[in-house]
Amino acid sequence: MKVSYPLVLINYKTYLESLGNRGVLLAKTVERISREYGVCMAVAPQFVDITRISKEVSIPVFSQHLDPEPPGSHTGHITPESIKEAGACGTLLNHSERRLRADIIEDSIKRSRELGLLTCVCANTSIIGKALSTLNPDMVAIEPPELIGSGISVSKAKPEVIRSSVEMIKSVSPSVRVLCGAGITEGIDVSRAIELGSEGVLVASGVVKAKDPEKILKDFANSLSR
Ligand code: G3P
Repeated sequence: MKVSYPLVLINYKTYLESLGNRGVLLAKTVERISREYGVCMAVAPQFVDITRISKEVSIPVFSQHLDPEPPGSHTGHITPESIKEAGACGTLLNHSERRLRADIIEDSIKRSRELGLLTCVCANTSIIGKALSTLNPDMVAIEPPELIGSGISVSKAKPEVIRSSVEMIKSVSPSVRVLCGAGITEGIDVSRAIELGSEGVLVASGVVKAKDPEKILKDFANSLSR
């Protein structure tokens, strides 16, 4: 499944609102809005829902994490092969809620690339984002941890973090796409992020826990197609 930019990537996290059937319905809504507005929107469901969601919708599906272990005797690990087989086209790595050692991030990026899976590596600061970009992921997503789930967007509260991340990352890794996230709840948060140089957003509670996710997604899409 092709990913284009600007990208709206919706992380389902482990919210009950996006588990199982509810996650499928949300993915169908995301697909409809994405088509209607011509904006690339992707979802990152929980592992157990990847197969089902990938079968039901034609939008890019990401996993929220994976492990670099090869197939074989590695009980309990989530191999890139299993993610690919389930129908995902990429993965998040090193999310603030699932941090990894740098060598594990490097191995995970390599293994994913070998299998044709996209990688979106999260970073909590511009400096970490710059460092991780040199490991050659497809995307780096900057998320100030204190704003995650706060409803106060990175683009309003910390625009300088987006600007400096884009500058710092592009100076060493020009082909790496820079996304940002944390606290994004409305269209203006998305359009400001783009104005600041971001190539997409990573969003969770603003969509998953919204009373009317469709309304929010339309607001995001409108802000990008203006
Ligand atoms: O992965 C996205 C994320 O950490 C941001 O969460 O709830 O602030 O949109 P949220």
